[in-house]
Amino acid sequence: MLGFARQDGELHCEEVSMEALARGAGTPSYVYSAGVIRDRYARLDAALAAAPHRVHYSLKANASRGILDVLRAAGCGVDVVSGGELYRALRAGFRGEDILFGGVGKQEHELREALAADVKLINVESEAELRLLSRVAVASGVVAPVGLRVNPEVDVRNAHHYIATGARGHKFGIPVGDALAVGKLALSLPGIALQAVDMHVGSQLHSFEAYSAGTARLVDLSRTLRDAGAPIRYMDSGGGLPVPYSDEEEPDLAAYGAIVTAAANSLGVELLVEPGRFFVAAAGALLTRVLYRKETGNKTYLICDAGMTELLRPSHYDAFHRIEPVATPVGELVADVVGPVCESGDFLALDRALPDVHAGELLAVHTTGAYGYVMSSHYNARPRVPEVLVDGSRWAVVTARETYADLVRLEDPSPTWRQG
Ligand code: LLP
Repeated sequence: MLGFARQDGELHCEEVSMEALARGAGTPSYVYSAGVIRDRYARLDAALAAAPHRVHYSLKANASRGILDVLRAAGCGVDVVSGGELYRALRAGFRGEDILFGGVGKQEHELREALAADVKLINVESEAELRLLSRVAVASGVVAPVGLRVNPEVDVRNAHHYIATGARGHKFGIPVGDALAVGKLALSLPGIALQAVDMHVGSQLHSFEAYSAGTARLVDLSRTLRDAGAPIRYMDSGGGLPVPYSDEEEPDLAAYGAIVTAAANSLGVELLVEPGRFFVAAAGALLTRVLYRKETGNKTYLICDAGMTELLRPSHYDAFHRIEPVATPVGELVADVVGPVCESGDFLALDRALPDVHAGELLAVHTTGAYGYVMSSHYNARPRVPEVLVDGSRWAVVTARETYADLVRLEDPSPTWRQG
């Protein structure tokens, strides 16, 4: 069995009961299904079979070593956006050729680190960054493999404006109208080998129109760049594949695959894709215990041991995450499911119809494998929770629960004072 389902009434992750995981790892914890991740990788890889391609998992969605190990073993590469993510990728055994390096505000040391790691491609987002990269590459005595991250300025429709990136005026990428000039500059600069065009138009894209319109612009641009002498070898169509959080449909991978592979094939280039959420969102659940059930005014609150510090998405994006009790559901209740943090915005769900849940019971907050743990914080001095990987009937804590000592580890109680 893949993912989360009931066996004899009780919620399991693959073959392991969530109750047993709560006993073994404590709560709150993030629980991930390795089988779901493998299955989704295999399905996407198959959907791209019509073109030479490589899938680069966008590590920002979940950078856990346990998850990286599963994807690396499946044959996946990674897309990283910081020196820290590059460090994590290398530590997990990815080699330079497995790694794309992106990001809107790369620092000089990060460019140096990317070149030292011999990454497959550095996706550059501005003329100024291109000039800096040229200087860094020359100083390091290497040639940087470069992609131009273009903002194709297409109509992006998705769940929240915070996660749209490819419309006119967004901070990301080189405006499509400027891309040819920047491309020509790339051809003239030392230490730069222009090899790719790249876009990422947004996240959670239920309509594929932005992929069609965006890749069409990348194809046009690549042709013009080729005419100008650029040996374009790759097209990177970014991430953004959506996942169902409530009753939406799973994305039509065949339709998506047809769009992006046709674009790459029309140029005869290798297709690169960078989805993050698609692989890991549904593979994860946040396991939390109800500490108190409180009736106040005309409202019922389920006060849990997890909140916005563990899962920011409900409070930050008004995101919906399905919640269910681990035990056999009985009865009915409408409640706000909230955390212990001293903020009214600290909630996992508002006015949610649930079974009749009581203090002491366990809840699973679903579809939280992407942008869950990675966006967690120490606010209210709350140590980060463990990450648990389940594989068939086995499970392991792949990231330990932080301790109170971890919260103060970097503080210096007797600092060295210097004179200004
Ligand atoms: N490539 C680039 C350049 C990106 O900026 C992103 C995500 C991805 C790939 C992967 O996108 P995905 O396939 O996961 O949609 N924290 C937000 C999502 C922010 C996405 C940022 N960029 C959330 O919780 O919904």
